[in-house]
Amino acid sequence: MNVYDSDRMLEAISKTHKPVSSPKDADAILINTCHIREKAAEKVYSEVGKYSDLKNNKKNLKVIVAGCVAQAEGNAMLRRQPLIDSIIGPQMYQNLSKILLDETNKKNVLLDFREEEKFSKLGTKRNLASISSFITIQEGCDKFCSFCVVPFTRGAEYSRSVEEIVNEAESLCQKGSKELILLGQNVNAYHGLNNSNIQINLAELIKELANINQLERITYTTSHPRDMNNDLINMHLDCEKLNPYLHLPVQSGSDSILKNMNRKYTATQYINIIEKLRKKVPNIAISSDFIVGFPGETKKDFQETLKLVKEVKFAQSYSFKYSRRIGTKANRINCSITEEEKSERLHELQTLLNKQKTEYNNGFINKEVEVLVKGKGKREKQFRGTTKWMQSVIFECDDSLDVDKVCLKISSAEDNCLLGDLI
Ligand code: 5AD
Ligand code: SF4
Repeated sequence: MNVYDSDRMLEAISKTHKPVSSPKDADAILINTCHIREKAAEKVYSEVGKYSDLKNNKKNLKVIVAGCVAQAEGNAMLRRQPLIDSIIGPQMYQNLSKILLDETNKKNVLLDFREEEKFSKLGTKRNLASISSFITIQEGCDKFCSFCVVPFTRGAEYSRSVEEIVNEAESLCQKGSKELILLGQNVNAYHGLNNSNIQINLAELIKELANINQLERITYTTSHPRDMNNDLINMHLDCEKLNPYLHLPVQSGSDSILKNMNRKYTATQYINIIEKLRKKVPNIAISSDFIVGFPGETKKDFQETLKLVKEVKFAQSYSFKYSRRIGTKANRINCSITEEEKSERLHELQTLLNKQKTEYNNGFINKEVEVLVKGKGKREKQFRGTTKWMQSVIFECDDSLDVDKVCLKISSAEDNCLLGDLI
């Protein structure tokens, strides 16, 4: 979502500002930030510190911090790092121009939650489009998982209207997008209003977007198991444009940890959702997020996570050590798990998940797949793209490639991508 937000900020200031390739040529430095785990949040201060010399040599240089770290830390951020001129929270990007054009040298602090105004002022006309583009359809979260800062930094759940989303999607497709990645912290809780002022769900929105002719692929992230309703599950079979991919964070396989996380589902309920989906789309790629070392996680709890992973078999995953976040409910629970133990659990989990990813990807060897070309690879003559199952693929082509879609025969599966040959 920060990638999407950064693009929207660039578009919003494009009348007065343009990007430069080096900070030393800049009149303003804008740092967009993530607060989800402590490491990401702490990085911001060392990043800002890098601009100390530049700032001393160029009096008018503005350093602005945007995003969830700004939202969460507020004025304390300005006190801790005096190099920062202004901060702007994720629901205030429509006001970025005002900060940039402000010549008073005062420190602006814009931290209100104005999501409706944000989207209406940013508009639906898009200039920055790629073959696969992000589009935020929903922001914020009302779930309050006990470990998570999102409800505090992104605010309450908000769904954009259908008209706004369709207009923006059409604008992106006119600029060449063939795949849209619908974004939301709780994307499958989407309940935006249509033109008749009736709330529609994500499945209905997907059906609406599928009518855009140039659009070939749709995917959505991130979903919560509690909102994985039958309409959406059925849409995976009914809508050809919907990618056979689902990112559905489970976080843990232990019912007691899930309860303490306030996730409001059990491991069995999660497994049932996956079974239902696989009945419709057998080879669907299932991806997930995991947290190890949540306060009170015993060895037995962790074994239950491994058991769930073995049962589900994931195609992709993201796993993290629990990170204490101020203001969250879990931060009040005493955590007796050592860093060493957390690291060991993470390593064991990731070894299993990586093995599953390789097994899933090996199933594509010798298969012919359609790939959207995303750009050049690292080596000469190399290109990269993605499949409908959201795997990265690398392939070679002698000519300069001027198509955005190719058909490849997969030859092998590396750790982080598939390799293929042009057919
Ligand atoms: N510690 C570790 N991981 C976290 N996540 C969210 N909050 C925390 C935390 N406090 C992870 C979850 C979520 C993903 C985006 O980040 O797995 O799904
Ligand atoms: Fe955070 Fe997702 Fe839970 Fe919302 S549903 S509180 S965004 S982990």
